[in-house]
Amino acid sequence: MSEPDRSLEPTADEMRALTAAVLEYLIETIEGLDDAPASLNQPSADLLEAVSRPPPDFPGDIASLLSLVGRAAHQSYQTSGPSYLGYIPGGGIFTSALAGFLGAGMNRYTGKVATAPALVAMEESVLRWMCDLFRFPVEAQGLLTTGGSMANLIALTAARTLRAEGQVDRATVYVGEHAHGSIVKAARTAGISREHVRIVRSTADLRLDVAHLDARLREDRDAGLIPVCVFAAAGTTNTGTIDPLADICTAAHVAGAWFHVDAAYGGLFQLTARGRERLAGIATADSITLDPHKAMFLPFGTGALVVRSREALRLTFSENADYMQDLQDPGSLPDFDALTPELTREFRGLRMWLPLHLHGVAAFRDQLDEKLALTEIAYDTLRAHERLEVPWRPDLTVVVFRLAGRDDTTQLRLLDRINATQRVLLSSTRLEGSVYLRLTILSFRTHAGRVSEALEIISLAADEVT
Ligand SMILES: Cc1ncc(COP(=O)(O)O)c(C=O)c1O
Repeated sequence: MSEPDRSLEPTADEMRALTAAVLEYLIETIEGLDDAPASLNQPSADLLEAVSRPPPDFPGDIASLLSLVGRAAHQSYQTSGPSYLGYIPGGGIFTSALAGFLGAGMNRYTGKVATAPALVAMEESVLRWMCDLFRFPVEAQGLLTTGGSMANLIALTAARTLRAEGQVDRATVYVGEHAHGSIVKAARTAGISREHVRIVRSTADLRLDVAHLDARLREDRDAGLIPVCVFAAAGTTNTGTIDPLADICTAAHVAGAWFHVDAAYGGLFQLTARGRERLAGIATADSITLDPHKAMFLPFGTGALVVRSREALRLTFSENADYMQDLQDPGSLPDFDALTPELTREFRGLRMWLPLHLHGVAAFRDQLDEKLALTEIAYDTLRAHERLEVPWRPDLTVVVFRLAGRDDTTQLRLLDRINATQRVLLSSTRLEGSVYLRLTILSFRTHAGRVSEALEIISLAADEVT
């Protein structure tokens, strides 16, 4: 038998050299974030050809491969930099990236307690920390997912199982008109037809209209349908608006439905005093989606769900398998595979545990509080501009605005002009039938300097757009 190529098992010196090369590239990239263009996305034909080649049979070298990665990454929205003020930013803190590297390098199995009890305990400690943030009871359970969409799907699947097992044809779901698109996707994935997803209208302040929700719930129950889940937003992706959570909870529970709060964007503002005030009622939920890759600034790929009843997850997802019989654990720690659709997955917990322990919770709280304060300044400044309309005071960190009395094409011209500076990237949306621009202050690298630069750019562009 011939010896296999040993390059999959680099020596200590080779590992040091490879790591140093990657680290150098990463540090240079991060150091360059302040000056990087905000939104490139026009890779040359040469670059597309180079990155699309099939893998060769022979080894490459790290320097030229990193250079190719660097060229590809250059042609992208600068989602980790201070200029990213569109959609929902986050940034991606370095120490969480290190934790990802460490976790993947160790490559331990954390789907079952028996295979790595102390690592599971580590992940469980951050999950418990999230449950405690919302004063969830001891029977509650947190989960780390790949993002908010998966968290919404897991919550809805549990709600459907508990409320309408075997009767999915009669199951109905309720979402506000500004709810995130992942919820309709979740309903369809969970076997609930699009026609059974009730879109509840908003009041003038863009919050879910509880009277309309009540009416829809009553109508459906009278028609013999089964309301399985009511979704509220805290806050919406469009405007960061927080729905009237306590009232929605009452309406949902009176109708026998599960109450889920999609707080992918806003939930972690619970860390701050101002956030807790604005999120009043969130602790009444049966489950809450959080997205640490948004308001905890972790790299993309870490979402979270907290559920009031661990048993609900177990009833939904637990399955026995003969080939797992050696991995029974009678202790109190959870087998994550029994609580989610996943079995094998990376050690997600470390990506959250390491930064929380290394920086301390206050570092995150201060960042979020700064973003709330900067948003108030942005709102006041934009309102003072005579050509701009800024109709809604932000609950969180999104300010929406438009040129007063101008058509949608002009609003998009304004957006282009702002983004053409390459110092900021804003995005747009439609509200009440019209185009609005969105300024979202959430990246941990965005501070007062970049916000005032953004406000100057917006103000100048608003003066000049005809
Ligand atoms: C309110 C809300 N819910 C859910 C999601 C989906 O989260 P993810 O993109 O992490 O899947 C988002 C994403 O922006 C969101 O803003």
